[in-house]
Amino acid sequence: MSEKNEIAVEVKGLSKSYGPVQAVKSIDLQIGMGEYFALLGPSGGGKTTLLRLIGGFIRPTEGQVFLHNQEVSHLPPNARPTSMVFQSFALFPHMTVEQNVGYGLRLKKVASDEIKDKVANMLKTVGLDGYGERMPHELSGGQQQRVQLARSFVLETDILLLDEPLAALDANLRRDMCIELKRLQEKIGMTFIHVTHNQEEAMTVADNMAIIADGSLVEMGKSSDLYENPIRRFTADFIGENNIFDGQVSKIEDDVIHVDLGSSSIAVLSRGQKTSVGDKVSISVRSELARAIDTSTSSTEPLETLSGIHRESVYLGLTTSELITLDNGQEVLARQISDRYGGHTIANGTSINVGWRQQDGRLHIS
Ligand SMILES: Nc1ncnc2c1ncn2[C@@H]1O[C@H](COP(=O)(O)OP(=O)(O)OP(=O)(O)O)[C@@H](O)[C@H]1O
Ligand SMILES: [Mg+2]
Repeated sequence: MSEKNEIAVEVKGLSKSYGPVQAVKSIDLQIGMGEYFALLGPSGGGKTTLLRLIGGFIRPTEGQVFLHNQEVSHLPPNARPTSMVFQSFALFPHMTVEQNVGYGLRLKKVASDEIKDKVANMLKTVGLDGYGERMPHELSGGQQQRVQLARSFVLETDILLLDEPLAALDANLRRDMCIELKRLQEKIGMTFIHVTHNQEEAMTVADNMAIIADGSLVEMGKSSDLYENPIRRFTADFIGENNIFDGQVSKIEDDVIHVDLGSSSIAVLSRGQKTSVGDKVSISVRSELARAIDTSTSSTEPLETLSGIHRESVYLGLTTSELITLDNGQEVLARQISDRYGGHTIANGTSINVGWRQQDGRLHIS
């Protein structure tokens, strides 16, 4: 079913207001068929509202929704090729696990033998083999959530909308389920739209993602691109652990942009972005690409550096986060390999430089 160059979901100028609250503001979005797409963003940003608009549970204030190139903006949920896994999961409390999972198939009048097989297969897939006879209240929150997933998967609709499907799971189970979800999606070839505020979860499952905040689409792209080459300052700040320096363009030499931070200056490559002297811009540097450098050692390669005082080392296993307060008071993080694995200890209170290769900084135009 999955031709990745065909469009499964397209929204155009989609907006939803609740009185004065603009939950979704003029979003344009395309999702390819068979894609695993994530909507990632902070709480209250509009992710659930956008998903509900796609599923038909609410009507847009403005704009249109197309599924497989058909306009569905005014069709009810059951007339759309979608099914939805809700954020607050609700199993039928008076039905067994098996009956819950088979519910949608019974509505579709699928033969009972076929329902039995499909349900059994699906319970195996979500790791609940042997739980079919249990009632929902006899399951943990995480198990209930997996029953809900099974209930949606078994319908084999073209597009599955998942609203925080793993929120009730602990970190380990969530990691396992992420990988399981991705594997399952690849196997069945459905288009998945997965809402989460957890960036690791989004990166694990999704081919492409959109960052949604304050009702708007901030940035969209391949997960690895949004991590490595975020265009917007918000994206850099939201995904991963970034140091962000706000300043003003002071000089432009070909593709090297010099940015004045007040008491110091750093440079970054423009990577095709257009800017002018005097523009307010930001530079982000991932903590894992920033290094704490002893002031007495001279570097063998040219680095962008800022000076400060080492405050604290936070041991995280393989890596240690070095917290440094710059001369201007800004705190930055340099994440380095821990001692045990070949790093070196830095004493608190040491004067130190933070440095990174010029090509490792990213420019953000406000
Ligand atoms: N039925 C409603 N009536 C009024 N305001 C609403 C309604 N539903 C959502 N909102 C508001 O719209 C905004 C977006 O809400 P939404 O539930 O889409 O956010 P979200 O990104 O899913 O957040 P979370 O990660 O917390 O689930 C919020 O400010 C919310 O308070
Ligand atoms: Mg939500």
